Amino acid sequence: MTDEQFTPAASEWVYPDPDAAGSARIRDYEATYARAMEDIEAFWAERAATLDWYEPWGQVLDRSDAPFFRWFSGGKTNIVLNALDRHIDTPRRNKLALIWEGEPGDRQTFSFWELWQETNRYANLLKGLGVGKGDRVTIYMGRTPELMIAMLACVKLGAVHSVVYGGFSEQALADRIDDAQSRVLITSDGAWLRGKVVRLKDIADEAVSKSPVVETVVVARRTGHEVHMEPGRDYWLHDLLAQPHVKTVCETEVMDAEDPLFILYTSGTTGKPKGVLHTHGGYQVYTSTTLSWVFDVRDEDVWWCAADPGWITGHSYIVYAPLILGATSFMYEGAPTYPYPDRWWKLVADYGITILYTAPTAIRGLMRFGEAWPARHDLSSLRLLGSVGEPINPEAWRWYHRHIGGGRCPVMDTWWQTETGGFMIAPVPSVGLKPGSATRPFPGIDVDVVDEEGRTCAANEDGYLVVKQPWPGMLRTVYGDPDRYVDQYWNAYRDQGWYLAGDSARRDEDGYIWVIGRIDDVIKVSGYRLGTAEVESGLVSHAAVAEAAVIGLPDELRGSTIHASCILVDGVAGDASLEQELRNHVRREVGPIAVPSQIVFVEALPKTRSGKIMRRVLKARVQGLPEGDLSTLED
Ligand code: PRX
Repeated sequence: MTDEQFTPAASEWVYPDPDAAGSARIRDYEATYARAMEDIEAFWAERAATLDWYEPWGQVLDRSDAPFFRWFSGGKTNIVLNALDRHIDTPRRNKLALIWEGEPGDRQTFSFWELWQETNRYANLLKGLGVGKGDRVTIYMGRTPELMIAMLACVKLGAVHSVVYGGFSEQALADRIDDAQSRVLITSDGAWLRGKVVRLKDIADEAVSKSPVVETVVVARRTGHEVHMEPGRDYWLHDLLAQPHVKTVCETEVMDAEDPLFILYTSGTTGKPKGVLHTHGGYQVYTSTTLSWVFDVRDEDVWWCAADPGWITGHSYIVYAPLILGATSFMYEGAPTYPYPDRWWKLVADYGITILYTAPTAIRGLMRFGEAWPARHDLSSLRLLGSVGEPINPEAWRWYHRHIGGGRCPVMDTWWQTETGGFMIAPVPSVGLKPGSATRPFPGIDVDVVDEEGRTCAANEDGYLVVKQPWPGMLRTVYGDPDRYVDQYWNAYRDQGWYLAGDSARRDEDGYIWVIGRIDDVIKVSGYRLGTAEVESGLVSHAAVAEAAVIGLPDELRGSTIHASCILVDGVAGDASLEQELRNHVRREVGPIAVPSQIVFVEALPKTRSGKIMRRVLKARVQGLPEGDLSTLED
């Protein structure tokens, strides 16, 4: 994909669908946005008042310790109070909260009442293992209801979950366990993917052998294959649930609005992943408002966010926001193309999915198989579509709109980040769309595109994406590393007090924002966020590699692929078998998503005089493009 595809010149208008727009919660975007910006505190207070609180907040926004902003200070709540407890005394208790299908075709459903009971049982079980308020629990599982229940159970007790995506491997998992200092790890024997078992428990065992902090491992049965169970450390979930003290009622811990809710690790510019910390009060307000307005989720909808719960998209829009809104969610365990490339379309038809939210890479992947696959299924239940994770190329947008949405479902392209908690730039169903643009900022969100000095860029000029006012869903810190929080997000525009998103973007003459991509050493591979440094440290941990430099190269399907240049230690020859060995090594150390598509062996790397690898030069060189300004190059 090239930059050209995202220029406003290539854009066209897609006018709002009259049905979708006419019934949308927000029918006048301009007026709603203007009203919110007039007084953001009043606006967010009004939104917060739609939720339950044990005790009301004193101050909506406390800026006294900026950039450590505090929202709804003094308020007492627990996101589980809003996600589950409050539905139990209403007729909604009998409504389906979750419909789940496993890759082999098995099904499970949970009403709000059932999900509440299962969460209570799980919470009691964790309590029995000594888990309490403030403790960190790491969860490493496939896409199953038990994952969601484990998250909710932690939160019910006031514990802080750290979910690690099942696509990460032992070292990545071990690093995250260590950073969070989790004494309890929750995993499963395995997960189904493309008809095969991903052996999660084996990987967890390796990780635990590197992280002595783990005392207890809870193992859910999913695939049924043989796994090692360490006596005195590992317990089957079903055995623990069968204990007599595991009752179906459990008090929800009363939390301060600013108490930690979860840590989610994400890639940044250094090898060490950042533990993005979110809190109870602001996050619940932000995620529920954004889902309600952008996707207009209603009681009769079947909402399918096809992300993995192990990423922020899953945290916010599979687990928390849909439950808070009392929506029925659908979740699917496996691969979109298993056993055939129409699995997703069959699921849409089978369950009457009304809103589908996925990533451009998935759309492009399914598009490859042609429109005959979706055409075999009745997709008329769909009324809205969504996209997230990277810029969506207009071609994929149009295919999605036409062949999945039947030309009638608006595509809500949502720009946001692990750090932002929820959608930041996104349309509502009543605004006009332009394929490839995430459109306009959400009400209450003050976004701008600026140059290095902080001047607003002219229309269609590239600049840095910044957020000029705090918002309730923002990260509160980097877990255990407040300096990094300040450095990474707030130092670039310290004087102005703006949040630096780390993306470049341009705004067109209609005020529509076109996100171009990352400005730092972060690569988006199939929508997954990876730091070049993470892959590099995976490579250099192999005895044959002295130094490595990783760059992202444009790829039609995956957005980017990983290209690695390695300098080998003296006396080692780079050949095809070493290349394969290094691939396997990265797969084991970091995870399958981090495996380089290309590995080349080189004698030297382009560096600045101070020894920093010049990735820009490397990238140009690899692509055979002009290398630009080389004045800082070492030699
Ligand atoms: O570069 C932007 C890209 O994904 C980054 C955030 O990645 P992550 O924290 O993994 O969260 C992804 C899911 C929220 C952003 O800095 N990105 C995300 N959504 C879009 C996007 N780029 C363009 N358009 C989007 N809709």
